[in-house]
Amino acid sequence: MLPPRSVSLVDRARESLPAEVFAYYAAGAGAQQTLAEQEQAWREIGLRPRVLQDVSLVSTEVSLLGDTVASPILIAPTALHGLAHPDGELATARGARKAGCRYVVSMRASRRLSSIAEESGPFWQQVYVLNDRGISDEVARRAAQVGATALVVTVDTPIVARKPAEIPALAWATGLLDVLDGRDPADPRLQQARDLGPPDLRRLHEVSGLPVVAKGVLRGDQALKCRDAGAAAVVVSTHGGRQLDGTITVPAALAEVVRTVGGEVEVYADGGVRTGGDVVRALALGARAVLIGRPVLWALAVGGAAGVHEYLRDFTADLSETLALAGCRSAADVGADLVEGPAS
Ligand code: FNR
Repeated sequence: MLPPRSVSLVDRARESLPAEVFAYYAAGAGAQQTLAEQEQAWREIGLRPRVLQDVSLVSTEVSLLGDTVASPILIAPTALHGLAHPDGELATARGARKAGCRYVVSMRASRRLSSIAEESGPFWQQVYVLNDRGISDEVARRAAQVGATALVVTVDTPIVARKPAEIPALAWATGLLDVLDGRDPADPRLQQARDLGPPDLRRLHEVSGLPVVAKGVLRGDQALKCRDAGAAAVVVSTHGGRQLDGTITVPAALAEVVRTVGGEVEVYADGGVRTGGDVVRALALGARAVLIGRPVLWALAVGGAAGVHEYLRDFTADLSETLALAGCRSAADVGADLVEGPAS
């Protein structure tokens, strides 16, 4: 059972996790400025409710890459769920399936992709481009084989930024075991590709046959570059403050990206999204969906699959209530008039 709302989930997780694991999950890069600002950035945007609207029936459904999903709240790809719970990603997948939420599985998972796929509802697979392109391609191919319906290619990580708390010792990403064929995990070919470029997006689309979502853009022109490389969607993201520190905020970047490519590719957002109100803000700025990182890890640590399910169920209920209070009948009904801005 999750605690009542008044008790902070993050505090419960801090109590139940080993200190170094909590620190690894919670950390941001650099001076952690981006991390410190990300939740507040959403709250600074005031909501402008509509009144005298019939909200007898409210739906949180949205359409993503041609699929109807029950909620615009997705699970962001985060590494190594085995550090949070013995069942790792299997528990996350069960919780997400029960809540009807889309799960984006990290390539740095603690469990084999084939096993996660068995427990999961419809899922998307995240891919890092590694020096050995063959490994990334193989992950993409296998993900498609076991049922992934999109590839989320992370474009903000040509190198992994240093953080105050690094991966706890012994936490190797066994998810890659499906494709490693006995390679040594310290092999340089398993490091991030510093020369990651547009051809990688194209190739990953070709080898998997799946639509590609480029994760980690903060500018309109960079979103255009992803579109030109064949991306069907982009995620406006600072990687939860874990890559370049001192960036513009996600809400500020979101508006620019939507203005530039919103008519052509789907735009999603993540980083510090914590409440139904934050989701409505993101939708009003033009995002179709949001991804949630750390809180899912906290819910997993506190309550396993049931914890993840309850967290997502409560979050979706909060979104539904917020939509009604804002005078919207559905996620699709949220428009730019719902937030302060140049147009209001
Ligand atoms: C991440 N993130 C991430 N992103 C990605 O593309 N692949 C990955 O393997 C990971 N791993 C990862 C581990 C941990 C511990 C964290 C906290 C984050 C980034 C993630 O997908 C997302 O962008 C942010 O976590 C969103 O911010 P919030 O919701 O955590 O504030």
